[in-house]
Amino acid sequence: MKLRPVQDPGDPPYDSPGYRSTELRAPKRLYLLPEELHDPTGPVFGAADVDPADSDLTSHHEGEPLGERIIVGGRVLDSGGRPIPHTLVEVWQANAAGRYAHEVDRHSAPLDPNFTGAGRCLTDAEGNYRFVTVKPGAYPWKNHANAWRPAHIHFSVFGRAFADRLVTQMYFPGDPLFAHDPIFQSVRDPKARERLISSFDLETTEPEWALGYRFDIVLRTTPFE
Ligand SMILES: [Fe+2]
Repeated sequence: MKLRPVQDPGDPPYDSPGYRSTELRAPKRLYLLPEELHDPTGPVFGAADVDPADSDLTSHHEGEPLGERIIVGGRVLDSGGRPIPHTLVEVWQANAAGRYAHEVDRHSAPLDPNFTGAGRCLTDAEGNYRFVTVKPGAYPWKNHANAWRPAHIHFSVFGRAFADRLVTQMYFPGDPLFAHDPIFQSVRDPKARERLISSFDLETTEPEWALGYRFDIVLRTTPFE
């Protein structure tokens, strides 16, 4: 029997011509893992493995980073709407000026000595996660002439099993770059694109301190046919 992964209509195609590097990244052929590896449980982390300070990206250096301080929170759920507790959520992002603290980033925007741009946390018993960070800036990339990425935060979420793992990007409401971004547009279903955009949330917002955004994440084990 030949098995192949089923793509959700909301998933972008592996090879999206507008996003040039997918031509090299898209699998030409898919190989199946041996059966005993189909459903191994995901990694388990204890409270001692993840420091609570890891979720505050503004606290990792002596001073505070420049930019607009924000809170990003939400829930990790399975496709049945059940919360996924105690699972690892990791984020990475550019600084407020649109520059990654990474040697391959050659954008002329300034680095911020008080911002590395990486954080992690575990969801609580109800599947909630929360990060304190600064709003990332848009940045140019070389995909095509005058190409700029909308502001975004990269997310990696481990679910209950390795087959649940999701790597995605969170965007901010109303970004004028959405229409021009081949990565965002590679998701062809407009409703699925909407799900990549966080929503401004006054309840998450803390008075006199930081705006809050909500971004719920639903994990679905890759089905095979
Ligand atoms: Fe990025």
